[in-house]
Amino acid sequence: ASAQLAGQVAGQVAPAAAQANAGLTILFGSQTGNARHVAEVLAKQAQGKGIVAKVVDMAEYKTSQLKNEQYLVIVTSTYGEGEPPENAIGLYNFLFSKKAPKLNGLKYAVLGLGDTSYEFFCKTAQDFDQRLAELGATPVQARADLDVDYQAQADSWSGEVIAKLEPELKAATAPSAQVIAWPGSDATAGAASQYTKQNPFAAELYTNQKITGRDSTKDVRHIEISLAGSGLSYQPGDALGVYFSNDVALVRELLLLTAIARDTPVQLAGETLTIEQALTDTLELTQSYPAFVEKYAAATGNTALAELAADKAALRAYLSERQIIDIVREHPGLLSAQQLADALRKQQPRLYSIASSQAEVEDEVHLTVGVVRYDAYGQPHLGGASGFLAERLAEGDKVKVFVEQNNNFRLPQNDDTPVIMIGPGTGIAPFRAFLQERDARGASGKNWLFFGNPHFTQDFLYQLELQNYLKRGVLTKLNVAFSRDQAQKVYVQDKLRAHGSELWQWLEDGAHLYICGDANRMAKDVQQALIDIVQQYGGKTAEQAQTYLDELRVAKRYQKDVY
Ligand code: 2AM
Repeated sequence: ASAQLAGQVAGQVAPAAAQANAGLTILFGSQTGNARHVAEVLAKQAQGKGIVAKVVDMAEYKTSQLKNEQYLVIVTSTYGEGEPPENAIGLYNFLFSKKAPKLNGLKYAVLGLGDTSYEFFCKTAQDFDQRLAELGATPVQARADLDVDYQAQADSWSGEVIAKLEPELKAATAPSAQVIAWPGSDATAGAASQYTKQNPFAAELYTNQKITGRDSTKDVRHIEISLAGSGLSYQPGDALGVYFSNDVALVRELLLLTAIARDTPVQLAGETLTIEQALTDTLELTQSYPAFVEKYAAATGNTALAELAADKAALRAYLSERQIIDIVREHPGLLSAQQLADALRKQQPRLYSIASSQAEVEDEVHLTVGVVRYDAYGQPHLGGASGFLAERLAEGDKVKVFVEQNNNFRLPQNDDTPVIMIGPGTGIAPFRAFLQERDARGASGKNWLFFGNPHFTQDFLYQLELQNYLKRGVLTKLNVAFSRDQAQKVYVQDKLRAHGSELWQWLEDGAHLYICGDANRMAKDVQQALIDIVQQYGGKTAEQAQTYLDELRVAKRYQKDVY
């Protein structure tokens, strides 16, 4: 429906779909919304120059339109081990297929967003860039591959692109300048709430309840937050962005190790604050990243650390379980407060899949938070946001939040459509939202949930609720895999295989399939199990089974929210 809407609006600008599009098309491939936001800011900048620009979610983009484009900007993140984000897969596969058209008349630019902590930094952006060039398109501006702290560079890159395109585009598209927003974008939803990632809402914590047993290896919290008075709304599938304060003890230790006085003033993005305030509320301390090691080594004159930083693979291995504090403990050194502030990157809010539906909880939002807690290098470690929500925030305190839409994780529009949900561990979160929503809507479609965790007695998250849904028929089927309750590990994919025939039948009956949870191991093993099931029960080769699942993804019948 949204693709149609975009098409209709675009139709008012371009006389006929088959003709060349003289305006600027900005496509975003986004998992967490950052690329979407950069695309929207770019469109607004273009509009300011009198250029007709439209922003389109890659998942909503008609690939047949590509040959009509003259000016294209792609903004995309990269995900996992160099894979395109969920909404980019269709376009990505199309471009790399034999069906991709020659693009000799196209001028383009690509902006990549990524994280230098990962080996395949900005791989998807590189792929798009190379492929467009191979197809004959001409770059108007060199690709930029930007790290987590991308904002300032994204702004200047966008400015340069527009400056290069402006002379041609303005002549071609004036005077009917307008930004065509994709449905649900900031531009269309902005009226609903003033609160955004840039301007988060200070929300009250209602509830923080541990929902794993006392003997569990995990600490999972059910968190309830009030959105009352914010005007914020969300749909099942969306995520909540959470800002947090770092642990004061951690901040003090860092200052002690570097012999910096707590009240030393520093400048951050044009503002003056004390180093203690900056470390507590603004800078990233609980993740570590290559740029810190490089800058810290240079500022403290630590040559051993500088050598380590020069070897990318060794550095990634070194950083894997270390937080900033671990690096400083191992390599205490002297540097100025400003140097320390400049070596650290700005805190990024953490995104949690929302575990509630507003049809059920109204102006509350619920989360299922796994607390990151581990011992390493002889010290206890606690995650930044999860530690804040679980330990440092008291009920009644305020937490800064915003809603991050995820249009690539949505219940079927048709309430009769069957739904298969695979959500082990905290991956259960969005499915609790789905079930609340379908229950409230009285949706008649069947719902099948696969859940897994270590132990039945300790880790059956939302057990009573789920069993109640089962009893009431909201859940049609519930299959659980308690991995450590028997000698042999049992995982959700084993349960999928055990019910392969029925699962295939559901898919053939039009079911939508969802996976949420661990990306590194679980989602890959589940994907393999699905291929095996489609192969076996659908009578297909492995390659045909892969194609079948790819087609489900492009049709938005197979959606993932994995991290
Ligand atoms: P384990 O920790 O006993 O190995 C949620 O974290 C559940 O996912 C746990 O039961 C965990 O089992 C399980 N899990 C671990 N690796 C997995 C994998 N590759 N595929 C599916 N589930 C996995």
